Parts: sequence; structure tokens; C-alpha cells
Amino acid sequence: MKISVILACAGKGSRTNLGYNKLRYDIGGVTIFDKTLSKFLRDDISQIIITSNSEDLDFFKDHTKNLEIATKIVLGGPTRQESIFNALNEVDKATDLVIIHDGARPFVTKKIIDDAIALASKSGNAVVCAPSIDSLRQQDGDTTKTINRNSIYLVQTPQIFKYDSILRAYNLARENNDNAFTDDASIYEKYIGKINISEGSAENRKITTNADLNLFRPDNYFVGCGWDTHELVEGRKLILGGVEIPHTKGLLGHSDADVLTHAIMDALLAASHNKDIGHLFPDTDPKYKGISSLLLLEEVVKILDEGGYVINNIAAVIMAQKPKLAPHLDNIQASLAKVLKIDENKLTLTSTTTEKLGLVGKEEAISVNAYCSLYKD
Ligand code: CTP
Ligand code: MG
Repeated sequence: MKISVILACAGKGSRTNLGYNKLRYDIGGVTIFDKTLSKFLRDDISQIIITSNSEDLDFFKDHTKNLEIATKIVLGGPTRQESIFNALNEVDKATDLVIIHDGARPFVTKKIIDDAIALASKSGNAVVCAPSIDSLRQQDGDTTKTINRNSIYLVQTPQIFKYDSILRAYNLARENNDNAFTDDASIYEKYIGKINISEGSAENRKITTNADLNLFRPDNYFVGCGWDTHELVEGRKLILGGVEIPHTKGLLGHSDADVLTHAIMDALLAASHNKDIGHLFPDTDPKYKGISSLLLLEEVVKILDEGGYVINNIAAVIMAQKPKLAPHLDNIQASLAKVLKIDENKLTLTSTTTEKLGLVGKEEAISVNAYCSLYKD
């Protein structure tokens, strides 16, 4: 059996108020379109047709260029109905079933798709609907009345049809100037026949308003880790988080060798998908010689700002045999929080010895391991 997919993507996304098609909305390097598309990269799909408005053609081309499944990008029309009509005419004629899905429904699951394909294979069509979960009232003259929610379904996509039937339905609607349909099931029902309902779910939401974009929050968190070690030598200052700690030795390095600030910067850069401090501030560059690492941290904070990343929290453990760091941690925390422009509670510092083992234990080095989580605003 040959199955083709039409992804309706030619809208303007005006209700999301982004100023561009909502399908291009980026969630940490992956767009809503990418998420939806990924659900249909399956062995049983042989063709994917994407409707696009004229401004987004290059975007869709770019985001489908490495697909193994045959893909076509088709210019949509001013209404969804016209977009789907254009796409149906580009479907491979040997197709048995055509799956029509809104590009703006990225949360569709494999089970919803599997169940709908199974029903459509058996019964000729399948329209994914979710049960109504809220109680319902209906306007009745100048009053309202309760309606039984068990009799109400919320229509979603995918909607799957035999290709020849849905093509015929769309052609008939066009011949009759019947242009006010908002989904494919209603066209099929009017011109072909009975609809079969396949189980959807409340999760299979369509991204419609700006508030719907909050549904991506959990995907919007990014964890990063950073590790640094500097050698402890005589004749250098010991600087941690920009604070000078009284000690007989200090850390060796091209900058002020602030090992704690370095590890935190690397964690922040990793979480925000940037290259590490070695790339950004190379120790071969004379302008970084002896520089306070807090100035470098300021640069990193700017990079996060520009990328729209907000610090959720940072935790770091300083490994030093000596000196005892616990009495200094509050000061260090305040110093770093100021440059990071975050509340001190968002930064947790701990210190440990390594029980006299290894380079740290022999007082030859201090190491720091830092973690952070960021979210994209
Ligand atoms: N769509 C389409 N062609 C149109 C209008 C909509 O292919 N002329 C697509 C949208 O890209 C979307 C789906 O149909 O994936 C459902 O439409 P909707 O949620 O209304 O999206 P938009 O029309 O983009 O949003 P809005 O109505 O807020 O402008
Ligand atoms: Mg619309």
C-alpha cells in the first residue's frame, strides 16, 4: 500500500503574533515544522508534500533537503482548503491513502498515526478526534443550555482518506464554489460519505495562539557542564570567582587563571550551543594575558543575552586540598552573581578536598566541575 502525506504549512500564523509563520518558531535549534515533519519520517510513508506560502519556500526547501522520502513543496493558497487542493493535485497518482496533517500539530504521536492508518486501511477513511474534556454550554436564544459532552468530539489531524475519494471531494467542492471548509473531513462528508473517528488526544494540540508556545517550555531547557584544572604554584595570586583568596600559592595561567570562572563559562557556553572558552578567548592572544576572568565572563553573559538564553541555575564544586574554601564561598558567590546578573540563590558553590589523592590532593592543582541549566526565552 502506498501512503502519501500532505503537511499543511502555508498559513501566516497571525494569531501567534510572531510576525512570521509560526512553523518557523525555533525551540533550541529545532523548529515546530521540524518536530511535526519528524513524526512522518516512517518506513510506510513514500511521499511528503508540504504546502508553503511564497515567503517560506526557501525555509521548507532547506529543512527538507536531506530527506530520504520523496518531498515536494507546493505553493498554498489564501485558505487552508485551497492549499490542500493544490497539494492533492501533486500527490503521486499511485497513492492509495493520503494523510493530511496540520504542520502546526507537532505533538501528534506514533500511536495516533498508527491507529488512524489502520482504521483508514480497513474502512476507507479515518479522522482523528479527541474527546471533549471540558463541560459544554450552547447558546439557545437569549439563554444557554448544557450539552452532553460525551456526544461532542474535537476534530484534529491527521485525517486520512483514500486518495481518489478525497481528490474527488475537493474537485466537487471547487466545482460548486463551496469554499468555507476548515477541515478535510467536512468536505469528504459532504461529497463522499461517512466519516470514521480515530482516537486522538488532548496532547495533540494545534499551536494557534502565542500562549500555546509555552507548551515548548520543557524542550527549552539546556544543561551544560564545564571542567577546568590549573596548576598551583608559588608567586601567583589565588583568584576564585574574581575574589582573591589568601594562600601561599596561586594558580598558573595565561589570564588570572580563575579556574572557577573558567569552568562556569564553559558550562554556560556548552548549554547555549557555543564553542568553549579556548575558542573564544585563546591563550595565544596577548590581549588576554593577565586579564581578570570576570571580564571574560561579562562577554559570555552578553553572548547568552544575544542568543535569548536565561540562566536557570548554576552549580559548581571546587576541588582543592588547601586552602579551606568554605569560609570564602559566600563572597565568591556574590562576586559571580553580580557579573552573571542573577540572584545569588541561582548559584550554588561547594568545595571538597580529594583526600590527599591525585594532583589536587598533593596540592599541585585546583579543579572545578560546573553545571548549569538555561532556558531560551
Ligand atoms: N494553512 C495552510 N494554508 C493556509 C492556511 C493555513 O496550509 N492558507 C496551514 C497552516 O500552516 C497550519 C494549518 O493549516 O499548519 C492550520 O491552520 P492555522 O492553525 O489556522 O494556521 P495559520 O493559518 O498559519 O494561523 P492563523 O490562522 O493564526 O493565521
Ligand atoms: Mg488560519
